[in-house]
Amino acid sequence: MKSGKSLPSMIISPSILSADFSRLEEQVKLVEMAGADWIHLDVMDGHFVPNISFGPMIVGVVNRITNLYLDTHLMINNPDKYLEVFKKSGADLLTLHAEVPGVIPGSLRRVRELGLEVGISINPETPIEILEPAYELVDLILIMSVHPGFGGQSFIPESLEKVRKINQIIATLDRDIVIQIDGGITTSNAGTVRQAGVRAMVAGSSIFNAPDPAKALREIRQAADSTR
Ligand code: DX5
Ligand code: ZN
Repeated sequence: MKSGKSLPSMIISPSILSADFSRLEEQVKLVEMAGADWIHLDVMDGHFVPNISFGPMIVGVVNRITNLYLDTHLMINNPDKYLEVFKKSGADLLTLHAEVPGVIPGSLRRVRELGLEVGISINPETPIEILEPAYELVDLILIMSVHPGFGGQSFIPESLEKVRKINQIIATLDRDIVIQIDGGITTSNAGTVRQAGVRAMVAGSSIFNAPDPAKALREIRQAADSTR
């Protein structure tokens, strides 16, 4: 991935879903100063997931606040309709869900054609076999370690087995694919997650709900990197 060059071993991507939107600029700058690598943007449509969050307008706002890589997680049906508008809003990576019909391979190819980096995500109940035709099309595989829709849920430990298996598959391919994990990441599981083969972790509530988000981010990084 473009963003993979000269990055620290663990890519930390704070999810603004848990940020205080009345102080969005301040919150984004805070995590940027604390060493966030990416910003994770959770787009929810109320159909693919039972919650509605925000859309391209907020991605555009965050793009004006920061130069950080915009890691955009589209939890939406019919992504094709919106790919171009997310590109215009400044997204760098568009991660789509494998459970949405037509995403593999069609929508993934369209994201690539738009010149953006491409991610594919699977929910906790989705087997990894669904990803088979996607390996040659993506830069990133996002393993959901909670049921998508809400921040602040507990990490599902079985997701680590998926990470290990996918890591083995990637090792047999001549492709640089980043494995990302999303949901329930804290200082207590960051090390284990890293050991399983994760290279990018999303953290929402454990950063933004902490009394000192900058400190929380640094502690998560420490916990992840200390197990290298
Ligand atoms: C859940 C979202 C996550 C969420 C993670 O549907 O995809 O990115 O913000 O939040 P935490 O880190 O609180 O589990
Ligand atoms: Zn997410």
